[in-house]
Amino acid sequence: MRHSISDTSALILDRRSISPERFSGRKVHREIVEQVLHHATWAPNHGLTQPWRFHVFMDEGATQLMAHLSEAYSLFAGEAAMASKAEKIKMRGERCNAVVALGLAHDAGGRFPLWEDQAALAAGVQNMHLMCTAHGIGGFWSTPKFLAHPKAKSTLGFEDDVLGMGLFYLGYPEGDWPSKGHRKPLEYVTRWTNT
Ligand SMILES: Cc1cc2nc3c(=O)[nH]c(=O)nc-3n(C[C@H](O)[C@H](O)[C@H](O)COP(=O)(O)O)c2cc1C
Repeated sequence: MRHSISDTSALILDRRSISPERFSGRKVHREIVEQVLHHATWAPNHGLTQPWRFHVFMDEGATQLMAHLSEAYSLFAGEAAMASKAEKIKMRGERCNAVVALGLAHDAGGRFPLWEDQAALAAGVQNMHLMCTAHGIGGFWSTPKFLAHPKAKSTLGFEDDVLGMGLFYLGYPEGDWPSKGHRKPLEYVTRWTNT
């Protein structure tokens, strides 16, 4: 055995999506964000395409990001926009000092299909989330539709050929770590063949 099975299992099962509304406001340090992102880059990726791109918004940068995204939401939703939702988005920038915009640099004419690079990015995000969990930091991958609005895209600041893959919020949770969620039993999702 190369690693503690019980520690590894506990880490994976303990990982939870914790939304910024449940963050305490305690700041996440830049060194931790760097460590978290470093581990993202060690995710498997077919052909070593290393398709992940990150734009880290910290402190005042996170506050401004979420204020701009709140405006992008209102523009995107138009008449259907809800003031409460716009305020919620803005408040995330007050509650959370570290937001990572996730980007995907996929070579459309290259050897590997889009889904493989997306899978690699998702594996990277899982690594991020597990590292956060080890630190007692909550992570939250958010993929709202309004990120497709030109104002949101320009705010995130990726090159034109980088696909937006959502936001990853980091923050220490207020109070207790959330309890375990729910999953279907393995027999519902698995078929075995032994011959
Ligand atoms: C690709 C991806 C996108 C997600 N986008 C959102 C989102 O936009 N809003 C949200 O509330 N949760 C989002 N989630 C988090 C899921 O809701 C969460 O993983 C699920 O409820 C299971 O909870 P757990 O992560 O605590 O196990 C996303 C998860 C993934 C993998």
